[in-house]
Amino acid sequence: MNYNPMRNLPAVAGYKSGDVLLLCGELFGRGYANGIVEEARQRGMTIIGTTVGRRTGEGALRPLDAEELAAAEEYLGGRIINIPLEAGFDMEPDASGVTVAERLKGIKPGAAEVEKELPVAANLLIVHSMAGGIPRARLFMPLLNRVFKGQGEKYLASSDFWGGELGKLCDLSFNEVTADSFAHLIEATAGLRGTVEGKDCSVAYAAYGYHGCEVLIDGAYRWQSYTPYLQGWAKMRLEEHARTAWEQGIKATVFNAPEILTNSSALFLGVEISLYPLLAALEKEGGGAVAASVRAECARLLAEGATLETMLARANDYLASSVMADFADLAQWPHHSTREQMELMLSRSAELLAMNANPKDIVCGALSGAVFRGVGRLMLDASWEPSAPVWWLNHDIMKYA
Ligand SMILES: NC(=O)c1ccc[n+]([C@@H]2O[C@H](COP(=O)([O-])OP(=O)(O)OC[C@H]3O[C@@H](n4cnc5c(N)ncnc54)[C@H](O)[C@@H]3O)[C@@H](O)[C@H]2O)c1
Repeated sequence: MNYNPMRNLPAVAGYKSGDVLLLCGELFGRGYANGIVEEARQRGMTIIGTTVGRRTGEGALRPLDAEELAAAEEYLGGRIINIPLEAGFDMEPDASGVTVAERLKGIKPGAAEVEKELPVAANLLIVHSMAGGIPRARLFMPLLNRVFKGQGEKYLASSDFWGGELGKLCDLSFNEVTADSFAHLIEATAGLRGTVEGKDCSVAYAAYGYHGCEVLIDGAYRWQSYTPYLQGWAKMRLEEHARTAWEQGIKATVFNAPEILTNSSALFLGVEISLYPLLAALEKEGGGAVAASVRAECARLLAEGATLETMLARANDYLASSVMADFADLAQWPHHSTREQMELMLSRSAELLAMNANPKDIVCGALSGAVFRGVGRLMLDASWEPSAPVWWLNHDIMKYA
C-alpha cells in the first residue's frame, strides 16, 4: 500500500462540449456520482448512464420499464444504456446466476451506442461508482444489523461474522461488485479505447474508493476511518485493479473519497461522525463564499439550543478519544469492531443526530453535498492528465468544494 494523498489541486481539465462521461453505476439522489455528473454537465460534456436494473416480483433482474427509464434519464440529464448491470449474487431460488462479467459483456451493444457519440475527435471519461453486494437472502440483514448497529446483547463482533461462512460469502460478493466489476469494465471497453485513441483523444477511468480519510482532529489533519468497513478488502482489491491497468498503460484511477451520507452508507450508522470537522477544514483552507454558505446552511438545520460549536466539539471528542487510538493505524486497515468502540460510535452518532431540528434534513446532508461536489470536480480535473493509479482525497483538499 502506498499512501498517496492529493495535496495540490489539479489543473482545470480540458474536457469540453462533445466529450463524453460514461457513468457505470446508477445515479441515485445524494449519491457520490452526482458531483461528477453535475461538473461534467457544467462543462458541456455528453452524459451517458447505466442502470443496476430492477427486480420483478418473482426476483428476476429486469431492465428499467419505459416510465422508470424516462425518469432516470431526466434525472441524469443523458441517455441510459438500459442493460441491468447488477453484479454479485444472491441466494434467491430464482436468481439468474449470471455473473457481472457476463452482464458487462452485454454492455458491448451499449458501448456501440457510446461509440456513436464519438464520431469526431472526443475525449471519454468512464466513471465507476459500483459498490455493494450484500447477498439478498433474508438471513443476512438481521446479522448485518447486529454487526453495524448492535449494542449490548445485540452486539456482534465484525470479526466473528467475517470469519464465518456467511462472511466468506459476503466477501466473494463484495469483491465481485465493488472491485472486479471495475476490471471487467476496463476489459469490456477495450474497443472504445481503440476507437478514441486512434483519434488522438484520451480515455480515462475513474473509480470511487474508500480507504479512510484525514480529517481535522484536535486542530490537525489525521487519518481515521469508519469501523467495521467490511468492504475494505474489496476496496483494496479495486486499488489493485487500477495498478494493474496502469502497468498496461491504461489510465485507471481510484479516488479514495471521504465518508458521506448516501443511500449506500445509511446502513453504517456512525460513518457520518467524521463529516462534522469538514466545517472546520473548509475554514482552515481559506473559508470564502463556499465555506460561509455551507456553514449558514448547516446552522439553519440545528434544533433549538444546539450550536455548530457543540456539534464540532462532540465529534472531535469522539475522534480524539483513547478508544479510537486503537484504530489509527492505516497499515492495519480495515479494522474489526470492538464492543467499546461500537458503543461509543453509535451513542455519539445518535447524540449528534439529535442536534438536528428535522431528522430528515440534517447537517450531515449539507456537508455530504459539499463533499460530493468537491470530489466530483477533483476527479474530473485529475482525470484529464492522470498521474497515479490511487489517490486519497482528504478534507484538506475539499477547499475546492
Ligand atoms: N458514501 C460514502 O461514505 C463513500 C465513501 C467513499 C467512497 N464511496 C463510494 O462511492 C461510490 C458510490 O456510492 P455512494 O455511497 O454514492 O452510494 P449510491 O447508493 O449512490 O451508489 C452506489 C452505486 O453502486 C451501484 N450498485 C449497488 N449495488 C450494485 C450491484 N449489486 N451491482 C452493481 N452495481 C451496484 C449502484 O448502481 C450505484 O451506482 C461507491 O463506490 C462507494 O463505495 C462512498
